[in-house]
Amino acid sequence: MEVLMSNWSTKTAQYLPENYVFPPGKRPGKLDFPVCENIPVIDLEKAKSQQILNACQEFGFFQVINHGIPVSLMDETMRVCQEFFGTSPEYKSGFYSTDMKRKCRIYSSSMDYDKEDFHYWRDNFTHHCHPVEDHIGLWPENPTRYREVVGKYSLEGRKFLFRILDLIGEGFGLKPGYFDGELSNTQLLSINHHVPCPDPSLTVGMPEHRDPNLISMLQQCSVPGLQVFFQGQWMNIEPMENAFFVIPGMQLKAITNGKFSSPIHRVVTHSERARTTIGTFLIPSMDIVVKPAEDCAVMSPVYRGFTYKEFFSAYTENKRDWEVTLESFKVKNN
Ligand code: OGA
Ligand code: NI
Repeated sequence: MEVLMSNWSTKTAQYLPENYVFPPGKRPGKLDFPVCENIPVIDLEKAKSQQILNACQEFGFFQVINHGIPVSLMDETMRVCQEFFGTSPEYKSGFYSTDMKRKCRIYSSSMDYDKEDFHYWRDNFTHHCHPVEDHIGLWPENPTRYREVVGKYSLEGRKFLFRILDLIGEGFGLKPGYFDGELSNTQLLSINHHVPCPDPSLTVGMPEHRDPNLISMLQQCSVPGLQVFFQGQWMNIEPMENAFFVIPGMQLKAITNGKFSSPIHRVVTHSERARTTIGTFLIPSMDIVVKPAEDCAVMSPVYRGFTYKEFFSAYTENKRDWEVTLESFKVKNN
């Protein structure tokens, strides 16, 4: 069977192949999840750092409006991403890879497709974005506007995330520009695409996870699917038009000495409509040491310093769970 789901014919996607049916306990099991109300909404034109700290410390993540990224650019980016998934199977297959070292790759389910018992109902297209001029030559030329539009979007996304990081830094009394440079040197665009699924109660669109990154921003489309594990249960997140979700990642948890946490989230599928979301991630360079900032850990750092490379390679030994992985870097006797 063709691996990329966006290459399946509509007829193929009418039936749920056995290896996409998750066992009871691991599948959503129902569709009527409660809606997560009261997600903090930050108006970036007026935002104070304390508001963002409160949102992260009390809720774990937030949405941003008046973020300064033109809606027309958001819409165009969504369009070229959707169009890319609609290009021919032959064209997309040229980008297919499960090798992390490939800096522009499409794959399906997870990077472990060949080893996993059940496949997630998604294709993903991920590529590096920073600096744009170093990577743009690897990006698709079909659709023809992809490079131009995504180039602009990558720059705007980076600017936006730095405004958020600066406000967070200010709230903790960190020196301006604390997150610049090696701590945020890698920028990825990660596009999830889910074709309509015959039975969303049996499938999972993206596994439950915390984001390993420094920080993530998500642009949703109008088709819901994102869920957060909040107050002991899974809850639906209703996409808010023209807003971005911001999710602190595990590196920010380490830097804030555990004052922030990174929320558990997953994606469920939709029976009628295809769903596309665009994630922008900032990630430390592989060899830079990440450690609690002195201002966040005056008396006692909870975590020892580690490189992102170490963090990444410790994942497999730590139950493939980023929280357990970070635990393994805790200072002993703390
Ligand atoms: C992610 C993620 C959610 C979504 O890419 O890390 O959680 O709605 N995406 O696609
Ligand atoms: Ni995520």
